Amino acid sequence: MDKLKIRKAADADLQEIIRIWKRNIKTINTASDIADLFYSFKNYFLVAVYSDSADTNAADTTSAKSKNKVLGFVGGTIRNGHGHISGIAVDKEYRLQEIGKNLLGTVERKFLADNFDRVTLEVRKSNRGAISFYEKQGYKQLYIIKGYYADGEDAIVYEKRI
Ligand SMILES: CC(C)(COP(=O)(O)OP(=O)(O)OC[C@H]1O[C@@H](n2cnc3c(N)ncnc32)[C@H](O)[C@@H]1OP(=O)(O)O)[C@@H](O)C(=O)NCCC(=O)NCCS
Repeated sequence: MDKLKIRKAADADLQEIIRIWKRNIKTINTASDIADLFYSFKNYFLVAVYSDSADTNAADTTSAKSKNKVLGFVGGTIRNGHGHISGIAVDKEYRLQEIGKNLLGTVERKFLADNFDRVTLEVRKSNRGAISFYEKQGYKQLYIIKGYYADGEDAIVYEKRI
């Protein structure tokens, strides 16, 4: 039976992370921007996969054997001394199955384990779906940055104390 698994991203997952990021997030980040973030903050980049529970190598996060199809990712980073969500996305066909919630919860626990007890993120003002999602995960609106995105859209900055 397939079971949702959240695991640390391996180098072999980078191309899938880039694909999911570019497909699902309105961004000007290039593949090389995403790769730079990934290599700088590897501990906080996680992927969601459906793993076969019969896979006895599932604990080995780097082996090609346990690498299944990537359904979503979270890209955590450290910014100004606190945890930051640089990107999170789940491919459309796998949404509303608590994958986003599990990705975010897992990276928050990793931040906390490293003594970062505050997490921030920016979201486009028009991204109602992501705003509902973040608010349900306990994020509180801090302030708005006018014209933050390259196309002139405002960003809402959110924060969570974990
Ligand atoms: C935001 C996103 C990651 C959520 O992932 P997901 O796996 O579908 O979310 P979950 O199933 O874990 O949802 C958790 C909760 O948020 C709610 N939620 C998720 N997406 C929602 C939406 N579009 N509208 C309203 N509520 C939503 C769910 O209903 C659920 O609520 P519940 O706990 O009361 O049942 C996903 O919609 C996505 O990839 N969006 C495109 C990329 C994006 O905008 N990323 C954020 C900007 S960086």
